[in-house]
Amino acid sequence: MSLNERAVSELRAEFPALQETAGGRPLIFFDGPGGTQVHRSVIEAMSRYLTEANSNFHGAFLFSHRTDETVAVARQALADLFNASRPDEIVFGPNMTTLTFNISRAIGRTVSSGDEIVVTRLDHDANIAPWLALQERGVIIRHADFNPSDCTLDMASLKMAINPRTKLVALGYASNAVGTINDVRRAAELAHAVGAWVYVDAVHYAPHGPIDVQALDCDFLVCSAYKFFGPHLGVLYGRYGLLESLPAYKARPANDAPPHKFETGTQSFEALAGVKAAVDYLASVGRRFGSEFASEFPGFEGRRRDLKVAMSAIRTYERGLCQRLVAGLGAIPGLRIYGITDPARFDRRAPTVSFTVDGLPPREIARRLDQANIFVWDGNFYALAVTKRLGLEGRGGLLRVGLAHYNTAEEVETLLGVLADMPR
Ligand SMILES: Cc1ncc(COP(=O)(O)O)c(C=O)c1O
Repeated sequence: MSLNERAVSELRAEFPALQETAGGRPLIFFDGPGGTQVHRSVIEAMSRYLTEANSNFHGAFLFSHRTDETVAVARQALADLFNASRPDEIVFGPNMTTLTFNISRAIGRTVSSGDEIVVTRLDHDANIAPWLALQERGVIIRHADFNPSDCTLDMASLKMAINPRTKLVALGYASNAVGTINDVRRAAELAHAVGAWVYVDAVHYAPHGPIDVQALDCDFLVCSAYKFFGPHLGVLYGRYGLLESLPAYKARPANDAPPHKFETGTQSFEALAGVKAAVDYLASVGRRFGSEFASEFPGFEGRRRDLKVAMSAIRTYERGLCQRLVAGLGAIPGLRIYGITDPARFDRRAPTVSFTVDGLPPREIARRLDQANIFVWDGNFYALAVTKRLGLEGRGGLLRVGLAHYNTAEEVETLLGVLADMPR
């Protein structure tokens, strides 16, 4: 069976939050980019951990052994999701921002004054500010621009910003503000050509498509489990040799080997139990509803293959929904979409559609949609450089509709109807 409306209604029944109502009417969750809802198995796994294993790790007793096992299986799950070559390339932390500051601090201990780092104006500030912080060590920051007309990364500008002094190129896999998917593989080629590392923010991309750190040839890739149906937790992939060589800020008794040296303090073990369940849920989507993609990944087996199949099915389903959304929004007078609108180029966009409406501030639209039980975000979403470049900072920013695989065509139609009827 493929991932169609019937399959999605089956999946929706497994998400407790999607069964919630307000005023007797269903809720429509269009804020996946801010945080997705969680699958029932995630809640159960977290609860089970807290009941049957709650303790610190590396101790001599049963619950501690269970905690060690919880960490090990979570690491393997994420290695499978990213197609990492080994589980100890996976570092856990509270969230993407904290992990990125950790790595930037570590890299800061290795830089010399005059070294350069490239960031992009299409990125969330969590992949800009940690690199700007290295200016205090004499690092020069260069900014790659994007094309305001369709919000795609300007690859010529990126290429120009990279030179033999470049130490690292930081870019997003997909923009959480306007949905653009970047050519990360090409960016990695440009960076590696001058001996620089590539740091990829895959937070926004992760719930929408397959990730393969080996195929991308990236040095670091970071994301957040709460954006892919898991709990509040950050996950970082780092090339093993790099993690090994970078000097971490850590407590002295903590293990000196990667990934432990970057996992400061005690982890949220219940969240690790939850993220493993989230990965298993995604793999199950592949097994249950990915038949049309099942033969496409001959080199992959088991959960790695199921995940590739699942994310391919999810990408295809979401693309259909996104087409309907973009077409419907485009028909509303005075509404302007920022980002790719040509369906022929939708392989370069996530199903996250941001817009402005003449005469209606984004916050006002979000408030009125809330009255119709439709949850969306407004503002700059911390993608400050995007709203600044588009001239929208200080003017309320954008209204963002973020679709996930549990959303339906009916929900999109409801949104379009409410927007079309919204008085100005
Ligand atoms: C693209 C992107 N990068 C980074 C972040 C920051 O993630 P975290 O909340 O895990 O620090 C977000 C959060 O919205 C995001 O959308």
